[in-house]
Amino acid sequence: MAREALTHAPAEPREADLADIQGMVYSGFADHPYAAYVFARLGTNPKLSRAWLASVRTRVTSAARETYQPHGRVQVALAPGGLRALGVPDLVIDDLPQEAKLGMHERTRTLGDPPASTWELGNEDTPLDVLVIIFARDEATRDQMIDRERSALETAGAHVYPAELSQDLGGREHFGFADGLSQPHLPGPHREPRNGGTAVATGEILLGYKNAYNALPHAPHWGDIDVGRNGTYLVFRKLAQDVAGFWGWLDKHARDLAPRDPAAAADLRELLAAKLVGRWRSGAPLTLTPDRDDPGFATPEMRNNFEFLPTDADGMRCPITSHVRRANPRDARGGSAQDSDDVVSRHRILRRGRSYGAPLDDAAARAGRDDGKPRGLYFISLQASIARGFEFIQQTWLSAPGFHGLHAEPDPIMGNGDGSSHATIPAQPLRLRLRNVPRVVTVRGGGYFFLPSLTALERFSAEPT
Ligand code: HEM
Repeated sequence: MAREALTHAPAEPREADLADIQGMVYSGFADHPYAAYVFARLGTNPKLSRAWLASVRTRVTSAARETYQPHGRVQVALAPGGLRALGVPDLVIDDLPQEAKLGMHERTRTLGDPPASTWELGNEDTPLDVLVIIFARDEATRDQMIDRERSALETAGAHVYPAELSQDLGGREHFGFADGLSQPHLPGPHREPRNGGTAVATGEILLGYKNAYNALPHAPHWGDIDVGRNGTYLVFRKLAQDVAGFWGWLDKHARDLAPRDPAAAADLRELLAAKLVGRWRSGAPLTLTPDRDDPGFATPEMRNNFEFLPTDADGMRCPITSHVRRANPRDARGGSAQDSDDVVSRHRILRRGRSYGAPLDDAAARAGRDDGKPRGLYFISLQASIARGFEFIQQTWLSAPGFHGLHAEPDPIMGNGDGSSHATIPAQPLRLRLRNVPRVVTVRGGGYFFLPSLTALERFSAEPT
């Protein structure tokens, strides 16, 4: 499609587009609980790399459900280095947004990350050109799929890193909270948002559609072909979680607050953790049920059926510093509810993460006793602009110590605190201030990728005429 024609861009994908969009845009593939992330650096022969892409492309699952195979899903994402290795002209790669071209390891200062030299994945010594994502229903199939993708890449001269394997925690993350509950509704096959769910403009997630500014997101072009259309940008972060550090710290606070009453201390521990997350373990939002976990509020119909301003403007139920309130302030970002919704609608992401590593036993966690085994979250987000999506949320909302009138108070879960910050829990008659919030999540690496449409994958795998 010529550039000029794009001024008439549609607001949402049509039926035919679904067969062009990679499936993970519309599905978390929850029925395929075994995931693997295969990263590679492509070889020096572009012809071989293109042959690899041409072959893996045929295995990519699109968003058209009627084309789903009974078992196994493959998705392919490419970093600028991967496009270069495929022989894609610089003119096309130059069209990618600046942050995608720089890569995550060049953005550590913006993101407040530890130096990339400490990372396990994605720094200058371990460049990530491609990411092949595998979803399977069982472990044996996942392993076979990894072998197939690894050998396809190696045949093309690529260096393949050890596969990153997910661990199914039954819809929870390692701290024990239900995860993946609040997602923006992306127009497409699911016609209506669920109760309380908010629709994003399609162009906030997918290239080729109108975004929240009623404009087209910037997209790379190859001659007359809009190779951006129906694609999106994928952020991958390997985030190690210190489960014993989190629960051990909260347990100490709870016992200090109720020194002679172990049952009351146990309840307080749960309450404090929920106050930091913004939801109870079940996923029930604090704004709807502030005093105790009530799974009745965690149902798909109820769990997002709330705003902050009507009942919780000052954070008495769900603290302003809590992770979910910072990551999506809904109507309470400032000004009127409408002003806030407008701002927030420009900073939404689709989360498609999975956990890794075996869970830590509850009793050990409470006692602050780590077992030394690696565990954490493969955080994955999809957005049409990494700068306005993931980076904005991380930098301006999660890491900012002055978020919404707070002082020296980054996100207690994901704020890159250095142990000197605090977390304020509004309460009557006195607020509670938890001091020296430990760093419970550490960035171990990651990368920025383009998740192209199937059409673009085809173009990238053909001779670059
Ligand atoms: C190990 C690190 C993390 C943990 C344990 C974690 C945990 C959670 C939990 C338990 C929820 C509530 C359930 C849900 O709505 O899915 C949540 C929501 C969310 N998180 Fe995180 N998260 C982490 C990292 C991040 C990062 C790095 C970002 C983005 C930069 C992020 C953005 C969000 C967003 C946007 C929501 C939804 C908020 C809403 O719409 O209500 N999270 N997270």
